[in-house]
Amino acid sequence: MWKALAAGALLGQTVSGQNMLRFACSQLTVERADPLVTPGQIPAPHTHQIIGGNSFNVTMEPAKYDPPSKSTCTSCTYSEDFSNYWTASLYFKSPDNGTFHRVPQFANVGLQQDGGMTVYYMPYSAKNGKMTAFKPGFRMIAGDPMAKKANKASICHRCLGNGEGFAPCDAKDTAELPNKYCPGGIRATIIFPSCWNGKDLDSPDHKSHVAYSNSGGLGTPACPSTHPVAIPQVMYEIMWDTGKYKNNAWYGTGKQPFVYSFGDGTGYGQHGDYLFGWKDDSLQKAMDALPGGKCANANCSVLKIQSAKDSMACKKAQQAKENVGQNGEWLKELPGGNMVTY
Ligand SMILES: *[C@@H]1O[C@H](CO)[C@@H](O)[C@H](O)[C@H]1NC(C)=O
Ligand SMILES: *[C@@H]1O[C@H](CO)[C@@H](O)[C@H](O)[C@H]1NC(C)=O
Ligand SMILES: *[C@@H]1O[C@H](CO)[C@@H](O)[C@H](O)[C@H]1NC(C)=O
Repeated sequence: MWKALAAGALLGQTVSGQNMLRFACSQLTVERADPLVTPGQIPAPHTHQIIGGNSFNVTMEPAKYDPPSKSTCTSCTYSEDFSNYWTASLYFKSPDNGTFHRVPQFANVGLQQDGGMTVYYMPYSAKNGKMTAFKPGFRMIAGDPMAKKANKASICHRCLGNGEGFAPCDAKDTAELPNKYCPGGIRATIIFPSCWNGKDLDSPDHKSHVAYSNSGGLGTPACPSTHPVAIPQVMYEIMWDTGKYKNNAWYGTGKQPFVYSFGDGTGYGQHGDYLFGWKDDSLQKAMDALPGGKCANANCSVLKIQSAKDSMACKKAQQAKENVGQNGEWLKELPGGNMVTY
């Protein structure tokens, strides 16, 4: 549905006839760990929900720690994808008593999953369909937890309720968390850059080795000369089950009641982390097969596909053992004691 809309209405000229990968990854673990920003630190400053290969660890040194050889399972549909993908958890802060409840998640349209995210690999910056897949050790971040203003092209929220369309970060989305009751949930979208400088697996800010081709958001086949290599455009969607928090008094006036795990009550600071871990050249093979039609969404014939049951069974115990509300507990404060700001 999303694909038809995006390819037809939004980006017809750039991606006509091309496919993308769109697949589910279930929750692997929820904990305060961040091998990219605070490697080795247990616990990290804020809670993440993490998906992908079960070799996820608090330390994952680029080009030394090899997720495909260290993992024994992945929570993603494609069983050769041992990458890790993570993002901040969302909490409901009760306007009645100030306690926090981790917002549960639900499966995206057409997918079977246990929490986690929907992951996309899209060809928007590819000229003639050609893309260079990431190299072992590659990682990057989209968004910025310190952001205090909107960057709607790549970080956005959709209040779901009445069968809205599916194109990401369009006019129906807001940069901020919507201040109204969303009976069908809130879809959070994180769009990563689609161009690479061709040499660095990472950079000190985990961003400057990659670039958007289109001032943020979905790409065009025009990578800047500083970052000439078209890479797959990664996108995350997270479906937060906000329909459970039904009380008109909590919305519309004053502050909306949801807050990201790092204390952000606006949503502007939503961010995603990506750590590449596809086995051998499987991702390159898939990207090469996209224009031919043999490879699309969760049914790419050049990749190995595991059952939804097997992907949901891949779990990992917390390294930073603590109650982050993972079982629906109410918490007196955000894990790490993060203050809520708006
Ligand atoms: C995970 O990280 C911890 C702490 O750095 C380390 O002790 C452990 O050996 C690591 N596990 C793997 C599988 O590398
Ligand atoms: C706090 O308020 C929420 C509703 O806003 C309620 O579900 C929860 O049980 C309350 N907790 C306490 C300790 O009163
Ligand atoms: C996947 O693709 C194969 C071959 O094109 C087709 O037979 C099958 O029905 C597809 N499965 C789904 C779930 O779309």
